Amino acid sequence: MDQTQHDRLLIIDFGSQVTQLIARRLRELNVYCEIHPYQNVTDAFLAEFAPKAVIFSGGPDSVTREGSPRPPQTVYDMGVPILGICYGQQVMMQDLGGRVEGGKISGGGGTAEFGRAYVTPSDERIDLLAGWFLEGREQVWMSHGDHVAALAPGFEVYGTSPNAPYAITADVSRNFFAVQFHPEVHHTPNGATVYENFIKLAGFKGDWTMAAYREEMIEKIRTQVGDAKVICALSGGVDSSVAAALIHEAIGENLTCVFVDHGLLRLNEAEEVVGMFRDHMNLRVIHAQEQDLFLGELEGVSDPETKRKIIGKLFIDVFQKYADQIDGAQFLAQGTLYPDVIESVSFSGGPSVTIKSHHNVGGLPEKMGLKLVEPLRELFKDEVRALGHELGLPASFIGRHPFPGPGLAIRCPGEITREKLEILRKADAVYIDQIRKHGLYDEIWQAFVAILPVRTVGVMGDGRTYDYACALRAVTSVDGMTADYYPFSHEFLGETATRIINEVQGINRCTYDITSKPPGTIEWE
Ligand code: XMP
Repeated sequence: MDQTQHDRLLIIDFGSQVTQLIARRLRELNVYCEIHPYQNVTDAFLAEFAPKAVIFSGGPDSVTREGSPRPPQTVYDMGVPILGICYGQQVMMQDLGGRVEGGKISGGGGTAEFGRAYVTPSDERIDLLAGWFLEGREQVWMSHGDHVAALAPGFEVYGTSPNAPYAITADVSRNFFAVQFHPEVHHTPNGATVYENFIKLAGFKGDWTMAAYREEMIEKIRTQVGDAKVICALSGGVDSSVAAALIHEAIGENLTCVFVDHGLLRLNEAEEVVGMFRDHMNLRVIHAQEQDLFLGELEGVSDPETKRKIIGKLFIDVFQKYADQIDGAQFLAQGTLYPDVIESVSFSGGPSVTIKSHHNVGGLPEKMGLKLVEPLRELFKDEVRALGHELGLPASFIGRHPFPGPGLAIRCPGEITREKLEILRKADAVYIDQIRKHGLYDEIWQAFVAILPVRTVGVMGDGRTYDYACALRAVTSVDGMTADYYPFSHEFLGETATRIINEVQGINRCTYDITSKPPGTIEWE
């Protein structure tokens, strides 16, 4: 993506697990950066990208191995500052005439090192380390098998740890810096300062703000779309909502959103979403009321995958039906985020996130001959939230927990009935109300109720009850790929169970799901 007005920093990815964190640290400093896998970084790419500085990420390979990942040699001749991290340090040393040794040998030049370590400074201080070593030593996070055994010509040592004599190295005359540890991770508490110093000495202005981004994206959308019409599947989730709000600012009435109501939404959800976008923000929103269609097709179905397939197919059919009514639509808007983009060009070709394929309108652009507008492609989730604030979306909306495309269908194991959905909606609303009242909502990645396909016996007042049992779920997570159950207090759980059983007719028993992911998943189906 072209952000030519800003200074650009290039992160060359050698496959580290934490490369994205480098980008995060830089964006926090208002620096525009992009991550590109090393294979894509050719001479032509470098010339076109014209970075003002370059960072080499860490990576799992060994530079001592024939054919291990390298940048093109020209990167060293561009006259721009370079910072190499871990594997990136070893790449620099090997490429520039030093020596790297492999394996877990101890003594001599250094050993493999994983985890916390402490770096102490050499006598001479450099700008990269301004604000470091104020209290003598700095905690850093190491994660390496190989180590540098001889420095490349021109490099000096500026910090050492017990197992890494070359923990911090630099050729100050060329502004080449190479560190053995990972300054981007949380366990290097003063690590952000290293990035701050690096971009300062590289001359970055730090002018990549959300307000600037908003203005530029609006211009860009106008240029891309012209007078053509755009359609957007509005799910009520943060990504599609922010994308719609931004595109609306750019092209106004030429954007039409389709909100598919499949009858599997939470209490008052359709009214809230349609009300906000249509009535408060003046967007054209088609409220596709297709509850009967979806619930009809789902009748009697209890297999989770069959449910998902039915919903996915109907969603596309319905969206297409409404989109066909919009004359001359040429573009489809999608809230694709930067992690999705990186994932798809991933260095390691690792397992890509299939989560969204259920829920976005995958395959539709080709089928309908539509081009894509993806204004969030450069942003991380919390940057999308910041942009949402910038665009005036309410905080309560922007901070909402994720909600799956198939909706309550996958929180209703077994057959789905209107009766069960009604009960589930009410129980979920009470649960979320409890979480909000206790000030826990923002600490939790996702919380919901699942209604179980089982009735249990209870006693209320003097009478016997025979009603549904439900499970409460709340997890913490960073990306939904792994998760841990949230450690509510017993008081909270007791109070919530009492409220649900008292306030929601049809439920007489509450359980709390304490499964992490893996081995469980977040949703029940
Ligand atoms: P699981 O249950 O796989 O969920 O641990 C991980 C995250 O993905 C959400 N999820 C979905 N989102 N369409 C979506 O848009 C889906 O079909 C879908 N299935 C799960 C889930 O809510 C959690 O945030």
